[in-house]
Amino acid sequence: MKFMIDSHAHLDDEKFNYDRENIIKELKENQVAYVINPGADLESSKRAIELSKEYDFIFPAVGVHPHDAQSFSEEIYNEIKNMAIKDKAVAIGEIGLDYYYDNSPRDKQKEVFKKQLELARELNLPVIIHTRDAYGDTFDILNEFKGEVIGVMHCYSGSLEMAERYMSLGYYISFAGPVTFKNAKNVKETAENIPMDRLLIETDSPYLTPTPNRGKRNEPKYVKYVAETIAELKDVPVSDVIEASRENARNLFKLEGVSFED
Ligand code: NI
Repeated sequence: MKFMIDSHAHLDDEKFNYDRENIIKELKENQVAYVINPGADLESSKRAIELSKEYDFIFPAVGVHPHDAQSFSEEIYNEIKNMAIKDKAVAIGEIGLDYYYDNSPRDKQKEVFKKQLELARELNLPVIIHTRDAYGDTFDILNEFKGEVIGVMHCYSGSLEMAERYMSLGYYISFAGPVTFKNAKNVKETAENIPMDRLLIETDSPYLTPTPNRGKRNEPKYVKYVAETIAELKDVPVSDVIEASRENARNLFKLEGVSFED
C-alpha cells in the first residue's frame, strides 16, 4: 500500500495521552506519512502547534469549533491569529456550524465562523469546515467568501447535490469512517460520485472509527479503510485514491517538504 496523508486527526486529544508517542512513531510503518492536526479551541490549537514542532510530519491547523463559539473572545482571536502566523499553521480549522448539538447559540456560531473566515482570507490560508445539520447556512456563509477562501468539507456526510455546491466554490470533500459503515447509503453514494481531484481522506481520530474497528478508539492508521472503501465504491485501484487524495491535500494545504517513499 502507498503512503497516505490523514487529512484530519486530533492526535492532541486526551484519548491519546497514554500512548501518543507510540501511535505517532508507528505512523510510518502503517503507511501514514503525514497528518493534519486541527485545533478545536485555543488549548487544542496550542497542542497541535506543539506536536508539529516535535514531529515534522504533523501539520497544525488552528481555530475554534462551533461547539466553543460561545467562549470566543477578542483575546482568543488574537492568539489564534498569532499562532497561525508565527507557527505556520496550514489552515484555519476546524470551524463551522453545528445545529445538531447547538452547544453555542446559532447567531454566535455564525459570527465566530465569519470572523475566522475573514482571518483565513487575511492570511491567505485554507479552512477546515465542520458542519452538522447546517448545510444551507454553511453554504451561504462560505458563498460570501467565494473566490477568496477555499478549504475542505471535513467528515462529509451530506448529499451529492450539496457537495456539488461546495465544490463549485472550490472546496474539497473529505470522507472519514462513516463512509465505511454498512448502512451509510447516502454517504457511500456521495463518495462514489466525487471527482478524484476533489477528494480527501481522513480519520477524525479518536472519533468515528471505521469498520471493521467500530467501537474501538480511532487512529490515523485506520485511514486505509476509508481509502479502500472509496476505491471499491469507485471501482478503481486503492493506489489511485491514495495518490489523488494526498496530492489534493498537498495542494490545498500548500504542504512544504512533502515527499513519499512508495
Ligand atoms: Ni475533527
